[in-house]
Amino acid sequence: MVNGQTGIVVGSANARIGLGAAVEVLRNGGSAMDAAIAAVRLVEDNLEDNGVGTGGIPNILGQVELDATVMDGRTLAAGSVGAIKGYPNPIDIARKVMEVTPHVMLVGEGAELFARKHGFQQAELLTDEARDSWKSRLDGLDAADGSVYEDQYQLFMGAVRDWQKMLHEEIYGTTNVIARDASGDIACAVSTSGWGFKWPGRLGDSPIIGAGNYADNRFGSAACTGRGEMAIRAASAYSVVSNMRHGMNLEEALRTSMTDLRHMVDPFAERSNVMNIVAMDREGNVLAASTSDESKYVFQTVEMDCYEEQPRLHVPLQTGQ
Ligand code: GLY
Repeated sequence: MVNGQTGIVVGSANARIGLGAAVEVLRNGGSAMDAAIAAVRLVEDNLEDNGVGTGGIPNILGQVELDATVMDGRTLAAGSVGAIKGYPNPIDIARKVMEVTPHVMLVGEGAELFARKHGFQQAELLTDEARDSWKSRLDGLDAADGSVYEDQYQLFMGAVRDWQKMLHEEIYGTTNVIARDASGDIACAVSTSGWGFKWPGRLGDSPIIGAGNYADNRFGSAACTGRGEMAIRAASAYSVVSNMRHGMNLEEALRTSMTDLRHMVDPFAERSNVMNIVAMDREGNVLAASTSDESKYVFQTVEMDCYEEQPRLHVPLQTGQ
């Protein structure tokens, strides 16, 4: 006998285009992992989404580098790829890492070699729109020439810091989806192109188990979007699940993990940092929180014809906001 709501998916607002596919998987008796990945794959393929998969805003060298992770709440198995280039669906590669290697995380060239060996389809990920956006920010610098970037380290790192200020306006995004299937198993999938204009090789929270993604059938699951450096420092996804383990309900768990973020000293946060968390408890109840009062999340059950969008719990970074 499985308690609670089975056949449910929840995710960041940009996952809305994938929830129908995820629910279809669950209706057909598929696993939570299959459902979560089905949704995330569609976001990766959405050219209009500039923060995930194909169409993602590139790093400062004009290269689209992707991060993705999956976690299985039944077995605590996890797989992850980071800073991988040339593969449009890193979520599938992350799953393969989980299934066939004794590792959890592969990055960069090693991840690309692994993907090639397993026959994953390669593609050009830099769309004309993303290239134009990158070029317009470069202000005449020829970042495509590696020597320029070597010679002008200070210039480029200065640019990374400047661009960081724009993060919440236009150049970041991530998607995450948590699913619970008919057996009560929970799985979570996360994918991102990370910060636009990031330093090459920069990893955010999305490929890091415990930071951007965590799932454990016994307590629930959580996944983050927003400024990944914060979720890494606070182990945010694990923190929500751990709070539930120690007896908090979903809302208390989210509020506590979000308020933990207030303790970070962050000299780079010249403008408001943004952190968002979606979460599910072990019985399939769902909720999400954000430092922004505008952020939404989406969910759908197998009984529903369409997803529902809800505002997130607002937990500002500064008190009094
Ligand atoms: N949360 C995604 C990132 O910071 O890369």
